Amino acid sequence: MFKAARNYSSCFSDEEIDSEKFNDFLEGCIGPIMAPNISFLLLVVLLSVGCTVITSLDQMCTEKESNKAYNCDYLGLREIPDTLPNTTEVLEFSFNFLPTIQNTTFSRLINLIFLDLTRCQINWLHEDIFQSHDQLSTIILTGNPLIFMAETSLNGPKSLKHLFLIQTGISNLEFIPVHNLENLESLHLGSNHITSIKLPANFPTKNLKVLDFQNNAIHYLTRKDVESLKQATNLSLNLNGNDIKSIEPGTFHSKIFQNLNFGGTFDVSIILKGLQNATVQSLWLGTFEDTEDQDLSSAMLQGLCEMSVKSINLQKHHFSDFSPATFQCFNQLQELDLTATHLDGLPSGIEGLNSLKKLILNVNNFDQLCQINAANFPSLTHLYMKGNTKKLDLGSGCLERLQNLLKLDLSHSDIEASDCCNLQLKSLLQLQYLNLSYNEPLGLQSQAFKESPQLKLLDLAFTHLQVNVPQSPFQNLHHLQVLNLSYCLLDTSNQRLLAGLPELRHLNLQGNHFQDGSIPKTNLLQTVYSLEILILAFCDLLSIDQGAFHGLEKMHHVDLSHNNLTGNSIGALSHLKGIYLNLAANSINIIPLRLLPILSQQSTINLSHNPLDCTCTNIHFITWFKDNLKKLEGLEETMCANPPHLRGVKLSDVKLSCGMTAVGIFFLTVFLFLFTILLIFSFKFLLRWKYQHI
Ligand SMILES: *[C@@H]1O[C@H](CO)[C@@H](O)[C@H](O)[C@H]1NC(C)=O
Ligand SMILES: *[C@@H]1O[C@H](CO)[C@@H](O)[C@H](O)[C@H]1NC(C)=O
Ligand SMILES: *[C@@H]1O[C@H](CO)[C@@H](O)[C@H](O)[C@H]1NC(C)=O
Ligand SMILES: *[C@@H]1O[C@H](CO)[C@@H](O)[C@H](O)[C@H]1NC(C)=O
Ligand SMILES: *[C@@H]1O[C@H](CO)[C@@H](O)[C@H](O)[C@H]1NC(C)=O
Ligand SMILES: *[C@@H]1O[C@H](CO)[C@@H](O)[C@H](O)[C@H]1NC(C)=O
Repeated sequence: MFKAARNYSSCFSDEEIDSEKFNDFLEGCIGPIMAPNISFLLLVVLLSVGCTVITSLDQMCTEKESNKAYNCDYLGLREIPDTLPNTTEVLEFSFNFLPTIQNTTFSRLINLIFLDLTRCQINWLHEDIFQSHDQLSTIILTGNPLIFMAETSLNGPKSLKHLFLIQTGISNLEFIPVHNLENLESLHLGSNHITSIKLPANFPTKNLKVLDFQNNAIHYLTRKDVESLKQATNLSLNLNGNDIKSIEPGTFHSKIFQNLNFGGTFDVSIILKGLQNATVQSLWLGTFEDTEDQDLSSAMLQGLCEMSVKSINLQKHHFSDFSPATFQCFNQLQELDLTATHLDGLPSGIEGLNSLKKLILNVNNFDQLCQINAANFPSLTHLYMKGNTKKLDLGSGCLERLQNLLKLDLSHSDIEASDCCNLQLKSLLQLQYLNLSYNEPLGLQSQAFKESPQLKLLDLAFTHLQVNVPQSPFQNLHHLQVLNLSYCLLDTSNQRLLAGLPELRHLNLQGNHFQDGSIPKTNLLQTVYSLEILILAFCDLLSIDQGAFHGLEKMHHVDLSHNNLTGNSIGALSHLKGIYLNLAANSINIIPLRLLPILSQQSTINLSHNPLDCTCTNIHFITWFKDNLKKLEGLEETMCANPPHLRGVKLSDVKLSCGMTAVGIFFLTVFLFLFTILLIFSFKFLLRWKYQHI
C-alpha cells in the first residue's frame, strides 16, 4: 500500500513538472496568444516562425507501417495532426496534451484498432468519443488524472477488448462506465487507490481473462468480492503489492483461477488459508527486496494442503526452517520456482514430490550440485540453476537419478572443471538442452558429452574451453543441431574439433580467432556438412581461402561481420546461392568485376560500415550496387570512404561518370580537326611538288 501511494504521487508530480516545462517552452516561442483551442496548423506556423525546433509536420509523427501505424509520442501535441491519414489503425500518442477529449477529437480516424494515450494529462472524457470506431479494441489511458468519464465515453459499434486505466487516480470501480464492455478480456487498474475488488453488479465479466489490481490499497477480500467475478472462468487475477491482511473463510471455495498473484504479501499463510478449496493453475507468492515480510515456516505453508495448485513461485523469500516438513504440502506441484530464496541446499528425504517436473533454483548459494539432493525429484524434466552466487562444484553424478531430465541450465554459475562433463553429468540419457555458458574454464576430453547422446542444443558461450586432445569433444552427438561456441577461446587449428556432428545446423564461432587471421583451405568446418547458419563475426579475420567453405552446401545464413576482410574473400562463397550474407564492418574497399556474380546470386547482403572506394576503379561494383538495391540491407550506413570529397556519402547516392569527359571530347575533336587540315595541306603540297617536277 505504502509503495502504491508513493509511486502514485511521485508519478504525478513528475507529470506537472513536465507540463510546466512544456508550457514555458511554448510561451517562449509564441507568447501569450497561445490558447488551448488554437488550430493545429496555426500553431505549427507560429512555432516555425518563432523557433526552429519544430520545422515541419512531416517530422513529427513517425510512420511505423505505411498508412496504418503511427507514433506521435513526446511531441507536446494538442490535437490529432492533419497529416495522419484517415486509414490509421494503430496510434501511439503518449506524452502529449489533451485535457479534454470530445466526440470530434478522433472522429476522423474511424479505423483505429489500438489507441495509446498514456500521460496526455486527460481529465475529461466526453460522450460518444468512439461512436463510429468500428474496430477499436484497445484503449490505453495510463497515467492520466481522470476526473470524469461520461457514461457513453467508451461506447462504439464494436466492444472493447483491452482497457488500461493504470495510474488514473481511480478509487471506486463505479467510476468506470460499463457500457460497451461486454467483450472485455483484460482490465488493467494498477497503481490506483482502489480498496475493494468488488465489481459493480452490472459489470460484464463473462469474457474477462485478466484483471489486474496491482499496487492498490486492497487489504481485505470477502466472499462477496470474489462472487462478483463468478462469471469469469479461467481468470488471471493480479493482486501483487496490495498487502492483503485478511480473507474471509470460504471466499475461494471451489473457485478456479488460471493465475493468482499475491506478490509482496507480509504473511503468506493468510493467503494460503484464504485459498482453501480453490483450484489454481499458477500461484505467485514471491516477494521483493524492498518489501518487509515474515520468513516462511513449514506451518505457514500448511494451507497448500487444502487447495489444488500446479505451479508456485516463492521468489526472494527467506525460510525460517528448511526441512522435509517444509515440502509436505507440495505433492501435487508440477512447477516450483525458488529463485533467490537464499538456499545453500535442499534437505534429503523429501517425500511426495513425484509430480514435480520443473524446478527453478536460480540465484541461490549452493556450493555443490549434489546439495540439491536430486533423488527427491525423480520426475524432473527441467532444472534451472543459473546465476548461482557461489562457485558451483559439479561433483560427480549428482543428477544421476534424473532419468527424465530434458533441459539443464547451469549458466553464470562460476563452474570450473579440468575434465568435464561425463562424470559430472552422468546418466542424463534424455538430456536435450544444456546451457553451460558464462562459466570458468572447462577442460574437455574426447567425447566429453558421451553421457547425453540425445543433446540437441549445447551452449558454451563465454566459457573458456581447453581441448587438449586431437579428437573432437563433441564426437557422437548425433542429434546436436545448435552449438554455441562464441568467445570460447578455441584452438581453431584443430581440424577434428567439430567432427562427428552430422545434424549440426547452427554453429556460432563468434569471437574466436584463427591462426594468422586466415581460414585455410582445410579447416575445422569441413566435417560439419549439414551446417545452415554460420556465425564468424568478431573473429579478427583478414582473409578466407577460396575453398574454405567447400562442402558446406546447405548454408543459408553466413555472418562475417566485424572482421578485417577485403573484397577478395567473397570468392569463398562462389558455390552458395540465395543466402543471407553479412559482410558489415570489414575492410572492403574494392570488389572486382569477376566477384560480382557471386554477390548477384545471394538473396540479402549487408555491406554497411566498409571503407568503400567510390572512384572509377570501382565503377563496376558501384554500378552493380545501384542495380541491386533490393538485395542490400543497411543502405543508410553503406558509404564511401574514398575519394576524400565523397567520404560519408551514401553509395546509393553516388553519381560517377567514368567514360570520357566533355573537356576530353572537346580536345579530341579539336585535335582530329587540326590533324585533318594538316593532312589536306600536306597532300596539296605533295601534289604541287609532284607537278612541279614532272
Ligand atoms: C458531438 O457532440 C455535439 C454536442 O454534444 C453534437 O452536437 C454533435 O452532433 C456531436 N458530433 C458527432 C460527430 O457526434
Ligand atoms: C486458460 O487461460 C490460459 C491463458 O491465460 C490458456 O493458456 C488456457 O488454455 C486457458 N484454459 C482454458 C481451459 O480455457
Ligand atoms: C472446503 O471443502 C470442504 C469439503 O467440501 C468443506 O467441508 C469445507 O467447509 C470447505 N472449506 C471452506 C473454507 O469453504
Ligand atoms: C544460456 O544462458 C545464457 C545466460 O543465462 C542465455 O543468455 C542464453 O540465451 C541461454 N542459451 C539458450 C540457448 O537459451
Ligand atoms: C548461443 O546461441 C544460441 C543460438 O543462436 C542462442 O539462442 C543463445 O542465446 C546463445 N547464447 C548466448 C549466451 O548468447
Ligand atoms: C548490418 O549488419 C550490422 C552488423 O551485424 C548490423 O548492426 C546491422 O543492423 C545490419 N543492418 C541491417 C539493416 O540489418
